[in-house]
Amino acid sequence: MTDKKLTTASGRPVADDQNSLTAGPRGPVLIEDYILHEKMAHFNRERIPERIVHAKGSGAFGKFTVTHDLTAFTKAKLFSEVGKETKVMVRFSTVGGEKGSADTERDPRGFAVKFYTEDGNWDLVGNNTPVFFIKDAYKFSDFIHTQKRDPKTNCKNAAMMWDFWSLNPESLHQVLIVMTNRGTPYSYRHMHGFSSHTLSFINSKNERFWVKFHFITQQGIKNFTDDEAAEMRGKDPDFAQRDLVEAIEKGDFPRWALKVQVMPEKDADTYEINPFDLTKVWPHADYPLQDLGIMELNQVPSNYFAFVEQAAFAPAHIVDGIGFSPDKMLQGRILSYPDAQRYRLGVNYEQLPVNRCPYAVNNYQRDGSMALGDNGGDAPNYFPNSFDSPAPDPSYAEPPRKLSESMIDRYDRNAPGENDHYTQPGNLFRLLSEEEKRHTIHNIVASMKGITGPRREEIINRQLCHFFRADLTLGTGVARGLEISIDLGRFATV
Ligand code: HEM
Repeated sequence: MTDKKLTTASGRPVADDQNSLTAGPRGPVLIEDYILHEKMAHFNRERIPERIVHAKGSGAFGKFTVTHDLTAFTKAKLFSEVGKETKVMVRFSTVGGEKGSADTERDPRGFAVKFYTEDGNWDLVGNNTPVFFIKDAYKFSDFIHTQKRDPKTNCKNAAMMWDFWSLNPESLHQVLIVMTNRGTPYSYRHMHGFSSHTLSFINSKNERFWVKFHFITQQGIKNFTDDEAAEMRGKDPDFAQRDLVEAIEKGDFPRWALKVQVMPEKDADTYEINPFDLTKVWPHADYPLQDLGIMELNQVPSNYFAFVEQAAFAPAHIVDGIGFSPDKMLQGRILSYPDAQRYRLGVNYEQLPVNRCPYAVNNYQRDGSMALGDNGGDAPNYFPNSFDSPAPDPSYAEPPRKLSESMIDRYDRNAPGENDHYTQPGNLFRLLSEEEKRHTIHNIVASMKGITGPRREEIINRQLCHFFRADLTLGTGVARGLEISIDLGRFATV
């Protein structure tokens, strides 16, 4: 017998939690049994909206340790000295599936890291891929609709996906990555993570550098083949969740080396690749990886809902010494995440334990649904005031950013200089081993075979053109797999 008393939500000890209060042994139940009502009513409200994307995920706490001095590039306090440790919370996810979907679907994987720094929380909200399907936030909701369910059949629909991809050739680089076996990682521990976007570093002299972040798995890359992933979806849909929990619980803490590519601010004006184009990588030969630190995950959260489901990551969360870039997708994301989280979790979501900055948070935001804590107590709720209350500190100002002489307009992603959607995907394909090439072609063919409907031929032909333009072997392999006889002359001129 425990001496801990069961209580109602308001703290009243409960005498009996198993038998309804009834008139006589056979009922009916009395309306005054408000404890029964409270129990049922709370249960009815257990679900909150799932994330509109990345709904299925796994999380863990850990630490980040600086191993190399990069203070020449950034004054961010979390990187201020070798050996410095910062607590982190990481959430991995798939993208398109619902909260109950299988972990081994072919999809990019989300790789979101919250660093609890003394200058506020810094969120690096990336994927396991260095690029993305699109490069303008306008396209995000359209793209995601194609990854979700068909509005009529309520099933996934390969025709929607390939229709969108074939009409948006800038997606080719990411499509190819997701169609390699990296699209079905064995577990979250066995994949890299990337900021994908270009962000910026600012040093103590207020000099700006453009930067891309890479988390390199220390467990080694390990992937499922298409068939293995399909088998695992049936056998254990929560395989990646289980793998992460079990590894950490037995002390086999997963680790990633954090590395950066750093580009001096001025290079952006002359570099042959638009450094703010999310569909492109910076070749390492141009901007080599530099070591920065090690991230280790060592604690499974004690409660999934409290610490993983309620976790809110946002590209808007940067800290002194780290800044944004003009990347159009990043700019869209800066607005989108806090908006989604106000809807999903409520306006005071930053006050939830997993999201709350463990250091001082001082502002004049008050009230709102579910204001936790003392809501600012009796301190002034306006600024400026005469009471020695929190005030802005100009030393945190970012250096001004130069704007080239530009016209406000809606610039086409296919404009000259922005329309090479083929060189990098082609180079990537040519870098694959023969076995990886075979797998990739197999995976593409398996997926494209799912295209049905009146536009089937048109969609397949359009996408084939993109594969041919990237690499002849790739195009030929996919066409053969789909049993399409090809007139190479035709594709040579597209
Ligand atoms: C989650 C929007 C592009 C990585 C989300 C969420 C939204 C969103 C609304 C759910 C947030 C929540 O409810 O907490 C967008 C928009 C994009 C975009 C509008 C493009 C304009 C990207 C890109 C990446 C990415 C390019 C990776 C480089 C993630 C990750 C999560 C996420 C990892 C899950 C975070 C978590 O674990 O809670 N996105 N997204 N997204 N997004 Fe994006």
